[in-house]
Amino acid sequence: MNKLPIVILISGRGSNMQAILDQAARGELAVDIRAVISNRPDAPGLDSARAAGIHTAVVDHREHSSRAEYDQALQSAIDQYQPALVVLAGFMRILTPAFVRHYQGRLINIHPSLLPALRGLNTHQRALEAGVSEHGASVHFVTEELDGGPVIVQARVPVQPDDTADTLATRVLRVEHQLYPTAIGWFAAGRLHYRDGAAWLDERPLIQPVRLDCGDAET
Ligand code: GAR
Repeated sequence: MNKLPIVILISGRGSNMQAILDQAARGELAVDIRAVISNRPDAPGLDSARAAGIHTAVVDHREHSSRAEYDQALQSAIDQYQPALVVLAGFMRILTPAFVRHYQGRLINIHPSLLPALRGLNTHQRALEAGVSEHGASVHFVTEELDGGPVIVQARVPVQPDDTADTLATRVLRVEHQLYPTAIGWFAAGRLHYRDGAAWLDERPLIQPVRLDCGDAET
């Protein structure tokens, strides 16, 4: 089986990265993880990637004077590995239009909300403040609009009356770990594409994101 070459970008803990590594190691995801790259040298996820025998690299944003220069350096680091897909997994940087265009159709992100609701940061706290009964996570193709690219797949979780931002984040993270390998698996199988500004699955444009039922999201 041909494995899809991917590069994963992280900024911190890397639990989504770990979920992808684990599925690949179990032979459940046909990807060749060429490298994990972080903008922060102290990202804990780098240690987990190294422990799994994956190449790691740091492109430190503090060593670059402009966003454009940083993204150019990041692009050079990524392109050495010739990925067919670049996976943003908690990569907490706004990307320049030039960077996004370079990877158009092969750059995906996971975001902790039911997009288009709650783009940006602090989504769990904002979900609580908005008083919504459902929250969740989305995987989307990245476009020049922040958190605005076509959504591929989502999973919902209930918001409980006694939730804090932390308890809600934990519940959402659990479904993220199922969502992201699912979307990457579709891409690796040649079922998922970006075309005409839309996400296509099995040769059909997705009018709505696929909704994934994650069994344990109730807890
Ligand atoms: C995840 O919840 C991810 O959805 C979010 O950061 C967390 C990273 O966790 N991403 C964003 O907010 C992107 N704007 P992880 O490092 O354990 O995967």
